[in-house]
Amino acid sequence: MCGIVGYVGPRPSQDILLAGLARLEYRGYDSAGIAVIDENGSLGMRKKAGKLAMLRDSLTDAALADGTTGIGHTRWATHGGPTDVNAHPHLADDDKLAVIHNGIIENFAALRDELAAEGVSFRSETDTEVAAALLGREYAKSGDLQQAFRNVVNRLEGAFTLLAMHQDQPGLVVGARRNSPLVIGLGDGENFLGSDVAAFVEHTRKALAIGQDQIVAITPSEVTVTDFDGVVVEAQPFDVSWDAAAAEKGGWSSFMAKEVAEQPEAVANTIRGRIQDGQVVIPELDGLDDLLIGINRVIITACGTASYAALVGKYAVEQWARVPVDVELAHEFRYRDPVIGDDTLVVSISQSGETMDTLMAVKYARERGARTLSICNTQGATIPRESDAVVYTHAGPEVAVASTKAFSAQITALLLLGLHMGRVRGTASDAAADVAELQALPEKVAQVLAEENDHVAQLAGWMADTRSVLFLGRHVGYPIALEGALKLKEISYIHAEGFAAGELKHGPIALIEPGQPVFVLVPSPRHSALIHSKVVSNIQEIRARGARVIVVAEEGDAAVLPYADEVIRIPLAGALFEPVLAVVPLQIFAMALATAKGLDVDQPRNLAKSVTVE
Ligand code: G6P
Repeated sequence: MCGIVGYVGPRPSQDILLAGLARLEYRGYDSAGIAVIDENGSLGMRKKAGKLAMLRDSLTDAALADGTTGIGHTRWATHGGPTDVNAHPHLADDDKLAVIHNGIIENFAALRDELAAEGVSFRSETDTEVAAALLGREYAKSGDLQQAFRNVVNRLEGAFTLLAMHQDQPGLVVGARRNSPLVIGLGDGENFLGSDVAAFVEHTRKALAIGQDQIVAITPSEVTVTDFDGVVVEAQPFDVSWDAAAAEKGGWSSFMAKEVAEQPEAVANTIRGRIQDGQVVIPELDGLDDLLIGINRVIITACGTASYAALVGKYAVEQWARVPVDVELAHEFRYRDPVIGDDTLVVSISQSGETMDTLMAVKYARERGARTLSICNTQGATIPRESDAVVYTHAGPEVAVASTKAFSAQITALLLLGLHMGRVRGTASDAAADVAELQALPEKVAQVLAEENDHVAQLAGWMADTRSVLFLGRHVGYPIALEGALKLKEISYIHAEGFAAGELKHGPIALIEPGQPVFVLVPSPRHSALIHSKVVSNIQEIRARGARVIVVAEEGDAAVLPYADEVIRIPLAGALFEPVLAVVPLQIFAMALATAKGLDVDQPRNLAKSVTVE
């Protein structure tokens, strides 16, 4: 939610800022802007509503004088619509200082009134401009950007990453963070700031993570991190494990197409290093056996796609670790009075590690005495830092807004967690068979991609005019039905709903009319003839009412053939491993349908990949 980049060094900064913004555009893309202190020491600024391309075009049409100190921003609107005026940067002190911001300043109305009473007028509707004006006022008092910046951040409430620079202090960019991401990139004679490492990974893979309520000042040769009182603190160094090429589209038509195709690798990377002597051993959970044995309850909390992975995790952890598991949407979790204590393990799942709803749920769980474990895909992110332990998914950077490879990696991590806990607790019975299933997963995902891609894409092409699609599943197929529907909503803007197949007769069956497309995820009859037969009955019920049935079933399941208009095949797999395979055709379907409708699959309307507001 808003991407931020800052640069100081010897090089002209505009291209560096624009390239960083291009990599951060997944965070928001309704407007973008840059500010640069040019060679004559004047601050120049350009900002434009629309995607980054609009800003680029504007800069091509009328160049902005370049300079070696700059900041850039790509926005997902909160206060004020996506207009040129509301875009960042915002200026103050006679346009000599520029500020960019990610998050929401909750006390902005009171601050705006305070400044207005002093005669300050505002150009935009944003909370950010209030922070800029406040900084202008403070700077006028001291003439010291760092001091003024400290004064300002101490007055702000809410969540924010704030970057600022002043033309009278070229070669200096200051930043602060509270509940919103900011990382430092360490170059040679140059330094960077970014919402995440993607902002600067093409220049350096050496990074520093900044903690909550900390301020950073970068010059070409120095990086200083302090708390909000100015006391120097140590920042945690880390190396970025992927290179710039991993965040490039390569030859693919979209990031989403690339990321769907990368799933075999993402799943394999998540498993790698976590199997020892034929058993699942997650090294990051070393030393936590007593905790994992002692807990009486697990709550998995997440948002969006990650919450559907969480639902699969419930089946896996309960089955293998024999501990009750609840799944809670993070934004609901802390607004009631959940029964949690030190016998509760709260597992959060977040690709970005920055989702504000999930972060707040983790903090709340800790305050209530629970132990916290995060499953995350992003190094240096906030949620892992706020958790007692972290299990990283190693899916690599995910750029497309609609999550695909991160989802299959999250399910894989939850399977690993379930098996790890089952081993530690002595409740998982057939380690060898489960490990074999895990190890076979990447190859099977690759098989689905190879064998079903064209078929599913063709199906989507035929259905480009469809106005509504339903998805049904039972057992672990149910979360996959939810995810299939979400993918379609997110990128093709088609009404789609996922239901538990058994719930159909309790209401949703009223939606079925002749020609209504319905995807049905059919579990393997080898695992439970009963569940399988119930799903086949559900198919008959909708077929009898004219539904067009598209079945996702394992190879060789002939029982579905008489009732299916289309059959998509997945390889044989263990019951809990099937979701990683079954979701793939649904992702391809959503992507192909959106493409057939001429939509931008990577940057769907109204969405952002990382939602850092509540
Ligand atoms: C946003 C994205 C979704 C994502 C969700 C959770 O809503 O648009 O695609 O699933 O956030 O993101 P996280 O980074 O916490 O997994």
